[in-house]
Amino acid sequence: MPADPPVGAGHPGDGVFRSSVRRRRSTASSICCARNGGGAVVNILSAASWFTYPGSSSYAVSKAPQWKFTNGIRLELRAQETTVTGVHVGMVDTDMTAALDVEKIDPAEFVRIVLDGVKRGQSEIVADDLSRRAKAALAHEPSLLVP
Ligand SMILES: NC(=O)c1ccc[n+]([C@@H]2O[C@H](COP(=O)([O-])OP(=O)(O)OC[C@H]3O[C@@H](n4cnc5c(N)ncnc54)[C@H](OP(=O)(O)O)[C@@H]3O)[C@@H](O)[C@H]2O)c1
Repeated sequence: MPADPPVGAGHPGDGVFRSSVRRRRSTASSICCARNGGGAVVNILSAASWFTYPGSSSYAVSKAPQWKFTNGIRLELRAQETTVTGVHVGMVDTDMTAALDVEKIDPAEFVRIVLDGVKRGQSEIVADDLSRRAKAALAHEPSLLVP
């Protein structure tokens, strides 16, 4: 597989580049799983798959198609016994969110939630309240309010 495309800092297209990287990684992982008789692919998506807050449009536009992509390859990889789990979360305390003074999940707790869900065979893990509210809001007319 050719090298991943560079990800420029702060460019509005970053999210799209990262989507491209994720698609390539998922494809590479699935090939490895096939060679080994099956396995598991976990795609870390976001509550932003389902809503956009001011200033997050380019980030959100990278997450919504990844949600669709994840749901698509789940069907495509079933025959090779590879499971595909999409994970949605609002805020995890990582370098990415270091500058944000908001409530965040501890990374170790987040990993525990993800691994528990994968072991249970969940196709989708909605890891926190913000993500749960965002998913529930999809059933309604789009709102100007963050769910
Ligand atoms: N943190 C959150 O609240 C949150 C919430 C929802 C979803 N997410 C998603 O979770 C994922 C991980 O986020 P994070 O919070 O862990 O971010 P992070 O703390 O900024 O870490 C990002 C990691 O990705 C690596 N990376 C970036 N571009 C890469 C590339 N082109 N090739 C290989 N590695 C690359 C970075 O490596 P280097 O350090 O070497 O650059 C770094 O280890 C992202 O997709 C993010 O959108 C995060």
